[in-house]
Amino acid sequence: MRDLFEKIYKDKGPLGKWASQAEGYFVFPKLEGQISNRMKFQGKDVITWSINDYLGLANHPEVRKVDAEASNEYGAAYPMGARMMSGHTSLHEQLQQELAAFVSKEAAYVLNFGYQGIMSTVDALVGKDDIIVYDVDAHACIIDGVRLHMGKRFTYKHNDIESLEKNLERANKMATQTGGGILVISEGVFGMRGEQGRLKEIAALKKKFNFRFLVDDAHGFGTLGATGAGAGEEQGVQDDIDVYFATFAKSMASTGAFIAADKEIIDYLKYNLRSQMFAKSLQMLLVKGALKRLDMIRTMPELKENLWKVVDALQSGLKERGFDIGSTQSCVTPVYLKGSIPEAMALVKDLRENHGIFCSIVVYPVIPKGLILLRMIPTAMHTLEDVAVTLEAFSSIRERLTSGLYKRLSASVSAAMGD
Ligand SMILES: Cc1ncc(COP(=O)(O)O)c(C=O)c1O
Repeated sequence: MRDLFEKIYKDKGPLGKWASQAEGYFVFPKLEGQISNRMKFQGKDVITWSINDYLGLANHPEVRKVDAEASNEYGAAYPMGARMMSGHTSLHEQLQQELAAFVSKEAAYVLNFGYQGIMSTVDALVGKDDIIVYDVDAHACIIDGVRLHMGKRFTYKHNDIESLEKNLERANKMATQTGGGILVISEGVFGMRGEQGRLKEIAALKKKFNFRFLVDDAHGFGTLGATGAGAGEEQGVQDDIDVYFATFAKSMASTGAFIAADKEIIDYLKYNLRSQMFAKSLQMLLVKGALKRLDMIRTMPELKENLWKVVDALQSGLKERGFDIGSTQSCVTPVYLKGSIPEAMALVKDLRENHGIFCSIVVYPVIPKGLILLRMIPTAMHTLEDVAVTLEAFSSIRERLTSGLYKRLSASVSAAMGD
């Protein structure tokens, strides 16, 4: 028998193995100062393109005022306990009603955390005879939800409707045998590459197959659709989404999340979501903060307009300069470059140290080997000047990358890592 920790001592995992070179700089960086378009990294001012504060609410004076008042009134603890036992309040109910109305559903349920909330939603919606069919690029929280499922599951190729159809045929056959139903899961916006889930085409398949549709719209809520109600509204298929999920961690610049659906489904879920039944409810200061944020999203369309001004300037500027930004259809702006992991590290260092640009870097194994993904999140706080400075910096780093400079700079790192 082996010591349980033996494997941990030997292998830190695909990302953990980079810890000694990357921690504190490329991973677990410490961004300091108020959340904004400009923050401090290691004492230097940087334009920050890696925070999901899409609408700039995190530090909006009205939001800060309400957050402070709620904190004074309730502290961080109230209410204590799970919703079902002692953690329920009228303001939770009010927030649910307002959220449901905003996303055009009969009812909503507020969740303490998005990740656990959607895991439990998947878990509660399916029994062992049911079949899940989900996009292969789904967020980790969906995958973890699917992992709880005791029955069959199929993935379809990312945003590939033909592949979804094939898998629905398989699922259909299987469900006929088991006597179960089918749950299809997509994201409204895929957060790494920015593509919208093909919700309209998925919903159209309901004419051919009998399934229920769950959409995780973490990045779409607040940013897409005429009123900001998300990817379903943008694509005109909100009614075809049977269970809608969004987190407060992005456009709402807070913590918490919600699901929305027909009243009967929400009534069932609130008695069956294990991560909510057996965990503390969302604190009042966050509930009050969410009510304020939702009100601002509803009544201040200029927040979304400012966001999209920046998104359009950044994305069109990058395209004009010949950058590959993939097929994003949202605010998420990926920039794909070719290079090794050590080259990516040298490039990001140059961006941060010499150009004062902070964006997240994604490499293998999250994306294919040999690709570098610089993932940028524009917000309503950014200015067109931020965009202009960033575009100049990107042209400069691309030139250096193609000239082989980063390869030379990174040679010592490469040798040390056997890359
Ligand atoms: C697509 C998606 N779903 C769910 C979550 C989890 O939400 P939360 O941060 O509220 O736990 C995230 C991350 O925030 C996400 O990006």
